[in-house]
Amino acid sequence: MRNSDIFNESKIYMPGGVNSPVRAYVGLDVDPPVIKKGIGAHVFDEDGKEYVDFISAWGPMILGHCDEDVVKAIKDTVEDAISFGAPTDLELKLAKHICTTIDNVDMIRMVNSGTEATMSAVKVARGCTKRDKIIKFAGCYHGHFDGFLVEAGSGVLTSNIPGSPGVPKGSIENTLIAQYNDIGSVKELFEKYPEDIAAVIIEPIAGNMGVIPAKQKFLEDLRELCTKHGTILIFDEVMTGFRVAYKGAQSLYGIKPDLSTFAKIMGGGLPSGAYGGRRDLMEQLTPMGPVYQAGTMSGSPIVMAAGYATVTKLYNNPHYYDYMDKIAEKLQKEAEEVAKEKGLPLVINRRVNMMTMFFNEGGEVTNYKQAKACDTKLYGRFFEHMLKGGMFMSPSQFEAMFIGVKHTEEDIEKFIDLARKF
Ligand SMILES: Cc1ncc(COP(=O)(O)O)c(C=O)c1O
Repeated sequence: MRNSDIFNESKIYMPGGVNSPVRAYVGLDVDPPVIKKGIGAHVFDEDGKEYVDFISAWGPMILGHCDEDVVKAIKDTVEDAISFGAPTDLELKLAKHICTTIDNVDMIRMVNSGTEATMSAVKVARGCTKRDKIIKFAGCYHGHFDGFLVEAGSGVLTSNIPGSPGVPKGSIENTLIAQYNDIGSVKELFEKYPEDIAAVIIEPIAGNMGVIPAKQKFLEDLRELCTKHGTILIFDEVMTGFRVAYKGAQSLYGIKPDLSTFAKIMGGGLPSGAYGGRRDLMEQLTPMGPVYQAGTMSGSPIVMAAGYATVTKLYNNPHYYDYMDKIAEKLQKEAEEVAKEKGLPLVINRRVNMMTMFFNEGGEVTNYKQAKACDTKLYGRFFEHMLKGGMFMSPSQFEAMFIGVKHTEEDIEKFIDLARKF
């Protein structure tokens, strides 16, 4: 069947024809390509068209599609071990590797998605502090857990309105919203609730309002405030972990979170997640402590094998990060030049190998408000032009573009030649 036949029939059986909303290209004049296979940095649709892939499965495929070592690890494992619901050596290997190579993770628990990781980390923080409130930042996404789905509104202290029908008001009454890169907005909340805030959760480099890196001083001040108030600082590294650096964004900033969450890359492209951090906190989890969290599929042998193959390959090849930085820098610089030639208000936010192209007359983009003020219609037209020319990138400006180890200078040149025709 062709792309269009498959997608149209999918709409009969799955809402919007998809299993996760951003894939549906709502509001755009094109339908999503139906992807059949991926090799390295390229994907192919059911019509046989080839694309350079900057989506990277929304982050996980840093080694490229069907990396030979990851495929081998999956094949070798599946012959013997699909699921046991019991301890395995495979989960020990991955847990030990992460705990011994990531600075701020003494103990870890495997789960099955980023959402599960973040909601469980918050539960640990609440259980340990015996407090209920959490602070999250406008524009940061931590998964579809009710407590995170808060429409941030315009003001810092506006009353919370659920960001989705189906989220009871009660589920978010303990979720406080602060503004990214604005420590004053966090201070205000701590002044109002000095002893009630269990956790602050943040993407240290935001990727879900487009890429917006936190400012160094902002994160330092945030760490200090959390320590002062006995609040657990959670770095959501679901996207940035093993990506911007092997040791994640926390290593780039030199800041020690109390808990960290991971997913995406750590499962090598299979459904995965994990949270970990300070031993005294993690020891509060059942069966050691009273904070309950469990999962039939957690630590799935095949996921552990794919994850181990991926993170050890990244760990053993630190030069990959320099390479990705170099390729991403080429893309950024040349795209900026093209935009200048054409008089387009392009602003690129980049940290190492993740970036977003914003169209913003107003200059820099450092928070959600500024991200929302960008010209998303122009981004949509740019996206459609690039898709037609064989570039697979996010249909929404509120996402990241990912560069992996298999992207080449030639891929970037193709992107730039096409962008020049926009
Ligand atoms: C920073 C961050 N946290 C959490 C999540 C949720 O992860 P998942 O989609 O695996 O549930 C995402 C997903 O994109 C994410 O980017």
